[in-house]
Amino acid sequence: MTVNQPPATQLTFTLNHKTICLKDISPSMTLLEYLRQSGYTGTKEGCGDGDCGACTVAILGTGADGKPHYQAVNSCLIPLGAIADREVLTAEGITNGQLHPVQTAMVQTGGSQCGYCTPGFIMSLFAAYYDGKLDDLCIEGNLCRCTGYLPIRRAAQMVAETQLAQQVADPFSEKLTTATTRLPDLSYSGRDQQFYRPTHLNQVLDLLQQYPDATLVAGATDLGLEMSWHRQHYPILISLEAVEELKSIAQTEAVVEIGAAVPLSHIEATLHGIFPSLDEMLHWFAARQVRNRATLGGNIGTASPIGDLPPVLLALDAEIKLASATGERSIPLAHFFKGYRQTELQPGEVIVSVKISRSLTPGTTRRLAQSYKIGKRGTDDISIVAASFVIDLDSENRILHARLGYGGVAATPIRAVQVEEMLIGQYWTPETIQAARSLLREAFTPLTDLRGSAEYRKLLVVNLFEKFFVEFQ
Ligand SMILES: Cc1cc2nc3c(=O)[nH]c(=O)nc-3n(C[C@H](O)[C@H](O)[C@H](O)COP(=O)(O)OP(=O)(O)OC[C@H]3O[C@@H](n4cnc5c(N)ncnc54)[C@H](O)[C@@H]3O)c2cc1C
Ligand code: FES
Ligand code: FES
Repeated sequence: MTVNQPPATQLTFTLNHKTICLKDISPSMTLLEYLRQSGYTGTKEGCGDGDCGACTVAILGTGADGKPHYQAVNSCLIPLGAIADREVLTAEGITNGQLHPVQTAMVQTGGSQCGYCTPGFIMSLFAAYYDGKLDDLCIEGNLCRCTGYLPIRRAAQMVAETQLAQQVADPFSEKLTTATTRLPDLSYSGRDQQFYRPTHLNQVLDLLQQYPDATLVAGATDLGLEMSWHRQHYPILISLEAVEELKSIAQTEAVVEIGAAVPLSHIEATLHGIFPSLDEMLHWFAARQVRNRATLGGNIGTASPIGDLPPVLLALDAEIKLASATGERSIPLAHFFKGYRQTELQPGEVIVSVKISRSLTPGTTRRLAQSYKIGKRGTDDISIVAASFVIDLDSENRILHARLGYGGVAATPIRAVQVEEMLIGQYWTPETIQAARSLLREAFTPLTDLRGSAEYRKLLVVNLFEKFFVEFQ
């Protein structure tokens, strides 16, 4: 792709095995809207904002192992531009002349009453079926309001058991051995909107120079909401999801570098066990469909004060690499957030990666690290307060290094620096925690909103740290 080449006027993708070519269509129209307008009404609209899973479809994408995988995603959040050159399956497309095993199991266990949620559950189960992971987590992003979850869980268990016993190949599993999921570059124009999907960082930077007002989009789990709910018009979108330099996770003994456009589900799978506080927060982050699309760059780039990963990365002293046409620079993440939804990102700049050191403070004999998220419900909810702590202790239980990262308590994700400084050199004892309590109590002045009062948030700031101590003393 060269920036000067005229954009194509056609978007092509495969839907339920048929090639679809669309002309003069808005690239920010959601896939769900397109499906329902085009008669694929098996895919339902519940919330329109990624919360209920009724709109779940499967796309054929690349897994963390670099191989093709079916991925459950929320079609209400995906812009059509992001679907170009992909293969999409809806509940209508998985029958193959007879019901798919996940459909049969739902019928046999009575997993459906009104049926509104059923196609979404089916597609989550379908994707998990080919990953061999039919557990509760594969349906954590699907809500059912009438059946109750027991029959649906039974359906998943039933398929898992027969699948283990039989290992039957079918056209969908065969596809996984032959498909190419690497996305080509794309430039498309339709309805006064342009959608670019470059494959190299230098192309992104060129595009940003040519179109300084363009909007970067990665997984679109934040921006998709604007498209779905607020019908926001984006004249120029630059997708980062095919940019090679942003898509890898590099690991050495000293450092882990995570590309800004790596989906969170890949981070979960690839880095599991390396940073326990990151594992924990990813577990509570949204649900499978969102994590299949959402990226670290998007979570930082959106600069939300309640983004869940910045507190974890602040506590891990992460560095962020930024690039523009004039070069690259790295800054501590702690310097990136400037104010409410304001960041250090300059026009023409893009987040390339996040680096986390694996080294402990010299003299450390024990590192304690954990994250906590308090929301109104367990999974698939945003935080009232999120916290992440890292403490390095020497052989005498003295604190050598302390990081306390919080979200939901200020205009930006933030560290309790004063408390960190007070902790250094102290012993990791109830008395030290008692002293930290009074400082933490006054560390922030959070707001009251629909999710929780300022007073409640202040209490959480203190109590979560105390909980950490109790768990790790
Ligand atoms: C149902 C639902 C549940 C959610 N749950 C959670 C949750 O539990 N915790 C949480 O923290 N968030 C949650 N979110 C919010 C969202 O999923 C995350 O913020 C996610 O990480 C955004 O990543 P993305 O790739 O989808 O970003 P996008 O929507 O593509 O982009 C978000 C913003 O970041 C910018 N951006 C993206 N990549 C870059 C880059 N490389 N460089 C510069 N700017 C960039 C974009 O321009 C845009 O402004 C949820 C969202 C939904 C819909
Ligand atoms: S309609 Fe509810 S998640 Fe898409
Ligand atoms: S069967 Fe009615 S919502 Fe699930």
